[in-house]
Amino acid sequence: MRFIKSLRPKKPKYFAPSGTRDILPNEQKYWERVEQVVKDLAKYYGFQRIETPIFEETEIFSRGIGIGTDIIEKQMYSFRTKGGHYLTLRPEGTAPVVRAYIEHGMVALSQPVKLFYIGPMFRYERPQAGRYRQFYHFGFEYFGEMNPVTDAEIIQLSLKILEEIGFNNLRLEINSIGCSDCRPYFKKVLVNYYRKREKEICPDCRKRITKNPLRVLDCKQNKCARIRKNAPQIIDHLCEECHNYLKETLEFLDDLKISYFLNPYLVRGLDYYTKTVFEIFFPEPGQEEKKGTEIQLSKNALMGGGRYDNLVKLLRGRSTPAVGVAGGIERIIEEMKSQKFDLPKSEQPKVFLAQIGDLGKKRSLALLEEFRRSKVLVAQRFDRGSLKNQLKVASDLRVKYCLILGQKEAIDKTIIIRKMDTGSQKIVKIDKVVKEMKKKLKK
Ligand code: HAM
Repeated sequence: MRFIKSLRPKKPKYFAPSGTRDILPNEQKYWERVEQVVKDLAKYYGFQRIETPIFEETEIFSRGIGIGTDIIEKQMYSFRTKGGHYLTLRPEGTAPVVRAYIEHGMVALSQPVKLFYIGPMFRYERPQAGRYRQFYHFGFEYFGEMNPVTDAEIIQLSLKILEEIGFNNLRLEINSIGCSDCRPYFKKVLVNYYRKREKEICPDCRKRITKNPLRVLDCKQNKCARIRKNAPQIIDHLCEECHNYLKETLEFLDDLKISYFLNPYLVRGLDYYTKTVFEIFFPEPGQEEKKGTEIQLSKNALMGGGRYDNLVKLLRGRSTPAVGVAGGIERIIEEMKSQKFDLPKSEQPKVFLAQIGDLGKKRSLALLEEFRRSKVLVAQRFDRGSLKNQLKVASDLRVKYCLILGQKEAIDKTIIIRKMDTGSQKIVKIDKVVKEMKKKLKK
């Protein structure tokens, strides 16, 4: 964006806050592409749009996401209002959508209720590539069905969104983290194993053993990865119901020819999950060859989700099973850019409207509106004074035709149509020009 750079002071005094960024005009095409694909697929899969406020009562998150998670302990933007309410900028969209589902009595609607959203989230994280303090999610929440086919549908929808955007060779990792029947026992087994090795793990994991033991399994530190190798796996401790649920979910994925990696260490950073959890990655070049055995722990996920059958009840609603997913738009766009995705070009104007003098300018504004109503894209630069300057812009835009409306034409109620490649000109009545141009552009 040369024109902006040239105006930029050498050393600006103010910057966007750390971990946040401006989304500049030349990036919008990526955002539009992602949002369009999300909206198209949401419509096709029967999800209706919902938008919740960007802040909620803090308790929605502390109860929903869970005390002891990194998000609640370290990453919330919380504040007390002048009225004494404790509010938090939403770090994620699921708990707010659940709050809205309960508040608006959606449980009384015919189920399932399928909702989607697109909007900013806020987490006080250490800023780095793919990790921001304000970032955008698109998310899908599917209420009222406890059936492996819904988990498979959410996974299929997630993959299709990324494929439609242009990704292939995606890597789906899946696990089950059990339910309130089987998980407590697994936690005990896990804590037992780690307590004996407390000295060999990182200080954070030492705290996690007491506060949130499952999280030791996705620690990125090398020494913790070594200890994890022989740690008990939840898959071996699932109750019969959770075991069968996982088996059936995987069978649905097999039927859909969706390949997956069963990752026994995938636990996710939010406490509300039950049974299925999954994440989708775009592998590094060559990563896709390391099938099966290698578990990818360090790369940023593009999307993540899972089942949360207890969350509606936890937020004081009637017990309702649910499953959902969210995608990180910045991460997806960063990959789109690094993969140099071809984006469909936005429509380019084929006509330029040049005007001279006050009368010409006035008439041009009305004419521009007539073209808009007839869905003909017309470019103009009313700020460029001389005809020479305006013709230069028209030629830079590579339009086919330039319409010239001067003082004389405005009085005569005519307009000049100039063919840009030959320079040939024709005068037509101004009230016929829209029709005439539509005819010419059709040729
Ligand atoms: P999450 O895994 O925390 O899940 O976030 C979903 C996605 O958001 C991640 O896969 C990642 O792409 C992106 N993301 C997360 N944190 C950041 C960050 N700091 N900067 C940039 N991108 C980020 C959830 O939030 C759940 N609510 C998903 C869900 C919906 N589960 C059920 N329904």
